[in-house]
Amino acid sequence: MPFYSDEIIEQVRSSNDIVDVIGQYVHLKKKGSSYFGLCPFHNEKSPSFSVSRQKQMYYCFGCGAGGNVIRFLMDYENLTFPEALQELASRSGIELPRQEMTAEARREADRKSQLLEINKLAAKYFYSLLHSERGKRAMDYFIGRELSPETMQKFGLGYSDQYSDDLYKYLRKQGYSDAILKDSGLVTIDEVRGGRDKFWNRAMFPILDANSKVIAFGGRVMGEGEPKYLNSPETPIFNKSRNLFGLYLAKKTKRKQFILCEGYMDVIALHQAGFDNAVASLGTALTSGHAALIKRYTDAVYLSYDSDGAGVKAALRAIPILREAGITCKIINMRPYKDPDEFMKNLGPEEYEKRIEEAENSFLFSIRMMEADFDMNDPAGKTAFQKAIAKRILEFPEEIERNNYIEAVALAYQFPIDSLRQLVVHLAAQEGSGITAARPATRPKATNFAKQQLNREDGPTKSQMLLLTWIAEDVAIYHDIKNYISPEDFNEGILRQVAAALFAQIEAGEGVNPAKISSSFTEEEQQRQVAKMFNTPVAEDADTSAKDLGKALKETVIRIKEESLERQRKAADPSQQMKLLREQKDIIASLKKHDFYHRS
Ligand code: GTP
Ligand code: MN
Repeated sequence: MPFYSDEIIEQVRSSNDIVDVIGQYVHLKKKGSSYFGLCPFHNEKSPSFSVSRQKQMYYCFGCGAGGNVIRFLMDYENLTFPEALQELASRSGIELPRQEMTAEARREADRKSQLLEINKLAAKYFYSLLHSERGKRAMDYFIGRELSPETMQKFGLGYSDQYSDDLYKYLRKQGYSDAILKDSGLVTIDEVRGGRDKFWNRAMFPILDANSKVIAFGGRVMGEGEPKYLNSPETPIFNKSRNLFGLYLAKKTKRKQFILCEGYMDVIALHQAGFDNAVASLGTALTSGHAALIKRYTDAVYLSYDSDGAGVKAALRAIPILREAGITCKIINMRPYKDPDEFMKNLGPEEYEKRIEEAENSFLFSIRMMEADFDMNDPAGKTAFQKAIAKRILEFPEEIERNNYIEAVALAYQFPIDSLRQLVVHLAAQEGSGITAARPATRPKATNFAKQQLNREDGPTKSQMLLLTWIAEDVAIYHDIKNYISPEDFNEGILRQVAAALFAQIEAGEGVNPAKISSSFTEEEQQRQVAKMFNTPVAEDADTSAKDLGKALKETVIRIKEESLERQRKAADPSQQMKLLREQKDIIASLKKHDFYHRS
């Protein structure tokens, strides 16, 4: 893996605008000076994922994911640093020099590729066990589930046998250390008993990423038992929210849509029946990360979730997530069968094809599910239902869409179309703003000044981070405070390093460049911390007048300075104490007299 100079890294980074790049993966809406969307790194319903064009950084107020554009690509696409850099370089037509590797860079790339190797070896191991004498029971299990040899082969199914450490021993023999084996999640290392396999005596389903690399496993008990499925934990190469089971196959389908289902066996049964467009989320609810992944291949999905209560609930949750990602979906009715696997066994592919043709529009599906909450035999219940429908129709931003749904609902429920239309118009008027957008804009968890000041638990770091955020958003603030605050006033470690780098950039006339500072850290956790420092919530309403901002700034500066002086004094020689205490008092007193941020 090559080593790249800071200059070339910065050149590549700065020629790829973060909003443009992330915008290709995440649906972003502009709000104030930032863009917001649903975080692809955790499951959420309202957007707390922010991207700033000015700072060239992203940060999720929900899960704390953050960094610059390179980090985003690394995490989203599961790439190593050089791979992400290479990708961005080719996007912007920059030729990367071929050079030597640094030890650290090699270590990072090595770790991920070792984990991939380990998973691949394990998959081969499980596969050969399945086809050996020892794997007879698993083979019988798969045959009992009507899987053909071709299907088992296509999905690389396997078996983890009765011994609780044979995979561990096998991998050790291949030269892998306990440390890396532990990181793979396939093994736990017990101080007393040594290495133990995570999976034993289970039917094994390898999980492949979109590039057909084995990144994890699901293991099913053969018969009854708890837990039914055991999955690999998240690792540097496996993120449940950003991978779909079967995607490496479905991405090659000729069909225009994907079929989204719930289980491993559903995907496998569908592929075996010729539906090579089936995928499933991996034992978790659908996330916007999944939706964004799907959106790269198609913008229409058939939901084939279980037909029981839990499946319906999961479908109702998935629909808006898909819609938000710009994917339309229709719901496949599998009754009287529970899931695609059972359906296929009982009715077969042709009937399923028919169910696809009859699939229900997701809006009409949600309305129909809502109907159960109302007593349709009671006029009051019926009215309430109609009002609820009207409210949902209002969520469509376009008039033509609203009209089409009014028509469809009126037809489906035998409601007089004019009265339904009137209801919608009436409700729109009542809501004041006329027609509301598809998804009511929800504010991220940004706090206001008042709240900010109440939150004193982690006072010192919080105020230091707040100051960094302010400076990054308005360089004039740096000139207000530079006579009072220096990097030494920040806590030792990453905070001080970031402050020093930021101040140096400004002094050098480079302007504020948080994304470049982020680049100088290699670890994901450090980059998250940097992103957090530049995204400590500041009042968003610019209306918090210069006077209030000045007041908050002053309090923040005083708090940082007090903390810092106190720290210095405590570390000093006892004979110095009186003198330092006096100085401390003087400095704070003069700070209190100073007016910060006095601009109009
Ligand atoms: P079969 O009973 O083998 O047909 O399973 P299924 O694929 O129909 O699974 P089911 O509908 O019960 O669950 C859907 C998905 O949720 C599974 O494919 C797994 O990914 C996940 N899942 C189910 N049970 C468990 C469990 O006990 N633990 C975990 N972690 N995941 C589970
Ligand atoms: Mn099933």
